[in-house]
Amino acid sequence: MKPNYPFNCWYVAATSEEVGRRPLGRRLLDVPVVLYRTGAGAVVAMRDRCVHRAYPLSSGHLEGDRVVCGYHGFAYDPDGVCVDVPSQENPPIGARVRTFPVFERGPLVWIWLGQPGAAALRTPPATPWLTDPGWASFGERLHVGANYLLLHEHYLDLTNVFAMHPANVPPGIDRLPYLDEVEVSEMSVRYTRALPPARLAPWEAEATGLPRGPEYHRREQGTFVSPALHVQRWVIDTEQGDSYEQLRMHGFTPETPTTTHVFLRVARNYSTDRALVSDHLRGFFLDMIGRDAAVLEVVQRQLAEEGEPGRDINVKADRAAVRARRVAQAMVAEETGRPLPRTPTNAIARS
Ligand code: FES
Repeated sequence: MKPNYPFNCWYVAATSEEVGRRPLGRRLLDVPVVLYRTGAGAVVAMRDRCVHRAYPLSSGHLEGDRVVCGYHGFAYDPDGVCVDVPSQENPPIGARVRTFPVFERGPLVWIWLGQPGAAALRTPPATPWLTDPGWASFGERLHVGANYLLLHEHYLDLTNVFAMHPANVPPGIDRLPYLDEVEVSEMSVRYTRALPPARLAPWEAEATGLPRGPEYHRREQGTFVSPALHVQRWVIDTEQGDSYEQLRMHGFTPETPTTTHVFLRVARNYSTDRALVSDHLRGFFLDMIGRDAAVLEVVQRQLAEEGEPGRDINVKADRAAVRARRVAQAMVAEETGRPLPRTPTNAIARS
């Protein structure tokens, strides 16, 4: 089966707090990777496979800044070079494992698993709301048994909330307005929409502390920032001119072609010092993403059972999702030299 994700892209590998002085093994883009920190705190990422035998370095241990294989004790410097073989005087010339560029910013560690050298030409997407003191944020890491594009498509089409999460919809809104516009660039897709005035849904009232009586305008924006990142912006505007803004960010990192690591971060520009608000939003979003994941895993299994290219019919609400899939397919085609499918298809999300 061919992967439908590009390699020449920065993906989230882990949260900062996950990477420490114990080797962390993680499969990313179907590549086994081991992550750890040097004594100075720098993050190291290398292929999680000893050059001697097929044993994961993540099952070994650290000695200073070196990772030592847990089988026969080969030791590797942070640049991947094998510097010690306990059973002989010198290590074999040229023995080394591949290392990968990493970039740590705020609570996330990004990794480049693509063409060596090309990483320097791009940087991970900016996520200022995760480090700006005017914002509060929290996060969770989840694992979903579905292709990463199914996740992107799901979150680029919010019309599913009426069937899946009706209690979360502001009262009186029974249909989302059509997308105002869908902007497409080389790597990103963005839509925006303005919602009609409505009173607060319970979760909004709880989070913002705003009075429940009045009606409020809302703006919603969804962005496929890259194949690795989706950001949704939800803004509640008050009559007094205040904007209660919330960003939900999903780092989608394919584990395999049919499974995905999800790095959820939620940031807000209001009540930034209130831990209770974070607790409330954490429970709210985890509950929602749990239901989302259950549906997407069913879709993934169904695709696997069908075993032939998809014949899905798209509607107006799919405009952003279809374009995002197209962007990802174009990136894969450019990397692999495979022809770009004539129409976006879910065929390669099958297992
Ligand atoms: S498998 Fe790693 S040292 Fe032998």
